[in-house]
Amino acid sequence: MRLFFSAASLLGVAVQSATAAEEPQPAHQIVTRGEGFIRSPVRPLVGHGPNLRARQNEVEVLNQRGGTRYGVEIEVGTPPQKLTLILDTGSPNTWINPVCETSNLPSDCQKFPQFDYDQSSSLNVTDYVDTLRYGIGNATVQYVYETISIGSATIENQLIGIAVESHQIPLGILGVSPPIQGQNEYPYILDTLVDQGLIKSRAFSVDLRGMDNPTGALIFGGVDTGKYIGELAKLPIIPPSRTPSGADRYYITMTGVGLTLTDGSVVQSEELEVPVFLDTGATLSHLPTRIYEALAGSFPDAQYDPNSGFYILPCEYTEMPGSIDFYFSGKAIRVPLNDFIWENGAYCILGVTPEDEEPILGDTFLRAAYVVYDQDNRNLHLAQAADCGSHLVAIGSGADAVPSSTGRCTALPTATTAGSNSKSMGLDFTATRPPANTFTGTLPTGIDVGPGPAQSGGGGTTVTGGGGLKPTGHPNAAGRVEGVGMGVAGLGLVLAWML
Ligand SMILES: *[C@@H]1O[C@H](CO)[C@@H](O)[C@H](O)[C@H]1NC(C)=O
Ligand SMILES: *[C@@H]1O[C@H](CO)[C@@H](O)[C@H](O)[C@H]1NC(C)=O
Repeated sequence: MRLFFSAASLLGVAVQSATAAEEPQPAHQIVTRGEGFIRSPVRPLVGHGPNLRARQNEVEVLNQRGGTRYGVEIEVGTPPQKLTLILDTGSPNTWINPVCETSNLPSDCQKFPQFDYDQSSSLNVTDYVDTLRYGIGNATVQYVYETISIGSATIENQLIGIAVESHQIPLGILGVSPPIQGQNEYPYILDTLVDQGLIKSRAFSVDLRGMDNPTGALIFGGVDTGKYIGELAKLPIIPPSRTPSGADRYYITMTGVGLTLTDGSVVQSEELEVPVFLDTGATLSHLPTRIYEALAGSFPDAQYDPNSGFYILPCEYTEMPGSIDFYFSGKAIRVPLNDFIWENGAYCILGVTPEDEEPILGDTFLRAAYVVYDQDNRNLHLAQAADCGSHLVAIGSGADAVPSSTGRCTALPTATTAGSNSKSMGLDFTATRPPANTFTGTLPTGIDVGPGPAQSGGGGTTVTGGGGLKPTGHPNAAGRVEGVGMGVAGLGLVLAWML
């Protein structure tokens, strides 16, 4: 999900103490498998609401189809407590303990364990409080130093937030984006993993997996060549001075879109030059209106729902071969219809909404892509995701840190059911409007769609004044957020995102 900018480095003191704490701590270093990478499963989190298409043998798949976000398990504290966080390449901060009562779906939030800070002997509370604002929702967090384990690696003295107050966000967030303003407020988890010698450079891979394969992986410091086809295409991350909002995000240039039709023929747009950023925290993709309309117009029986802004499709499309294709300087990522269509209750929704300010490729794209995010060299590496076993290769350091290893997989992922369909598709970029059919049904209300598209700009970080936490204090105690400064509200649009 997108995060607002935070104000400048108001955590200055915290940053300094973190730096001072960077002395070697060999006693606590754990190098995973001795190979310098850390692997952690990424799982789609169960969507809310009845699923009328449920078939008995497809529970996990359906959970994923209806799911709205991808979760990673981490352990926090001493002794370690297991928590599930949303994996977010769209924001840099990591924080835990959403306040369930004010999340959009308290019952979903309560299914996940909360951190009991009274039980942790390694908790070290700071005076710093910050409000993090996302496209939907926000969290006011107090920073603490804690011990964090991801996969089999443990890092000490990581600054993370503990929510004092939060709205509309049902789980904490593991943030792995670059510092959005271009400058760290403090060492984020990716930085600390490098500083503490667990990985060699600030790089990681994310494999969300397609609909038919429920468990993906987040690999810090490594690439799994058993999870993609062919070469990884190296694409420069667009420098902040040239991104649409001046934000430093995982922006790359998309050079075309297209369709692979059910008969296997390929239709492609003319050459485009669209900056898009890759955001695991966005359930859907959000693309410039023209592309959104062309894609919607490719499905003649799509119906527009004016209330939500979504296109509703007949669910038969999820069983058809064919794909929505995205091009990046010659590299094509073909997203099977099954992965691009998001199921919400009984309805199948085209996985894209319009966004002209800060276009995003979210989970409806990322399920089909294997992506290596290399912050140090400012490149993303992309290939068509697949699954043919596992072969982990460590990412080193320096300019060629990401190995140019060819993926071991050869077959394209196949559609769930090829054949017997009679739906037609065609891409028409000359159409000025998407199909005019209007959806007359009623989408379920109160569905949890995740923080989704957010704005950049605004946000605030303020050291508490005299009313700040005492270092020995505990977060969440009454009255602790007095004096928290709030930043200027952000720019940009909130799209017709919530149902
Ligand atoms: C807590 O953090 C402060 C500031 O970094 C440090 O001075 C102090 O020694 C830490 N306390 C513990 C128990 O680690
Ligand atoms: C957080 O979100 C809630 C609900 O939208 C809103 O009422 C509140 O003002 C926001 N808080 C901040 C600090 O932005």
